Amino acid sequence: MPPAPPPTAAQTLAPLFFLLFFFVGPVICWRPWPNSQLNSTDFLFGGSKKFEGSSEFVQLRYHMGPVLTANITVYPIWYGAWQSSQKRIIRDFIGSISAADSKPPSVAGWWKTVQQYTDQTGANISRNVHVGEEKNDRFYSHGKSLTRLSVQSVIKSAVTASTRPLPINPKSGVYLLLTSDDVYVQDFCNNVCGFHYFTFPSIVGYTLPYAWVGNSAKLCPGVCAYPFAVPSYIPNLTAVKSPNGDVGVDAMISVIAHEIAELATNPLVNAWYAGQDPVFPVEIADLCEGIYGTGGGGSYTGQMMNDRDGATYNMNGIRRRFLVQWVWNHLLNYCSGPNALDQ
Ligand SMILES: *[C@@H]1O[C@H](CO)[C@@H](O)[C@H](O)[C@H]1NC(C)=O
Ligand SMILES: *[C@@H]1O[C@H](CO)[C@@H](O)[C@H](O)[C@H]1NC(C)=O
Ligand SMILES: *[C@@H]1O[C@H](CO)[C@@H](O)[C@H](O)[C@H]1NC(C)=O
Ligand SMILES: *[C@@H]1O[C@H](CO)[C@@H](O)[C@H](O)[C@H]1NC(C)=O
Repeated sequence: MPPAPPPTAAQTLAPLFFLLFFFVGPVICWRPWPNSQLNSTDFLFGGSKKFEGSSEFVQLRYHMGPVLTANITVYPIWYGAWQSSQKRIIRDFIGSISAADSKPPSVAGWWKTVQQYTDQTGANISRNVHVGEEKNDRFYSHGKSLTRLSVQSVIKSAVTASTRPLPINPKSGVYLLLTSDDVYVQDFCNNVCGFHYFTFPSIVGYTLPYAWVGNSAKLCPGVCAYPFAVPSYIPNLTAVKSPNGDVGVDAMISVIAHEIAELATNPLVNAWYAGQDPVFPVEIADLCEGIYGTGGGGSYTGQMMNDRDGATYNMNGIRRRFLVQWVWNHLLNYCSGPNALDQ
């Protein structure tokens, strides 16, 4: 089904919606946000209080909108200064989603939880996700400080460029805006590390599902690159070593995974989410933010793995290892991932 144009109410409420995009109740989701009420007691005992997000209060429901059931194509837009080594890590991750032959626990195994979501015809989320055409925006076409709306203008520039514009693919395209570590985006670090939504026809000319994820290496590694970096205001917390030698990009992987999982299950924000109010949807990755392994919850990441070099990861992909947060499993009613000890 082709996506319907967004209702006017959604457009009007969009700024509010964005601000609270990562809002979740007190039971679930953890990141060391600078303004959170967390104290060191919470930190020490968080893990025992909260177990893999399981909660009788979570009522994830399907709201009848479309999900991404056809082969998914991700179109990266590289905004600002990107090294080719950094691009390779991100492309390898996206390519790993459908790489069924990766050694378990694998990124493809992680995606199986996402595939369990269906639309009203019973069609599952596609198992095929691949990287499509890419666009470089090396010269910061909309400056080094972007707003929610100028993010859409960056996407417009990419799909309307005079040379090699990105294809228009509203049905199964995911437009992934990636900003380099010298770019600020509205609310970055205060309450978001990334977000997803859909473009407005009035700005872009089409309704295209998109996500933004920023490299936090310079702006707020202790928040958005946690646990590869730690915030100074939480005592006695040690960072873990990142699996591909790039703290900012390795941390972006989990946020990219978060956004792609949510775009697949809720591309027009009228499909899978919890909460009564569509203006404050809590989606399948929001429910499991900060959970990377068995026992995870609150400020405890859960059980992860270490490679021979001492780097921390929880799943294998093409050529590499990654640390990726879990997503909500609506058949089990808790967060799950391929490295779960009970699988
Ligand atoms: C920290 O949080 C715990 C539980 O949420 C609370 O009991 C305790 O009083 C708090 N400690 C401080 C110093 O605020
Ligand atoms: C979907 O992707 C698979 C695997 O890459 C491919 O074999 C198949 O032809 C694709 N289907 C369509 C309709 O493009
Ligand atoms: C499709 O979704 C159904 C319902 O959640 C699930 O039981 C089934 O395992 C899914 N199929 C695949 C291939 O993931
Ligand atoms: C942090 O570590 C120091 C030294 O090991 C210890 O004295 C202190 O009690 C610890 N603080 C907390 C909040 O655990």
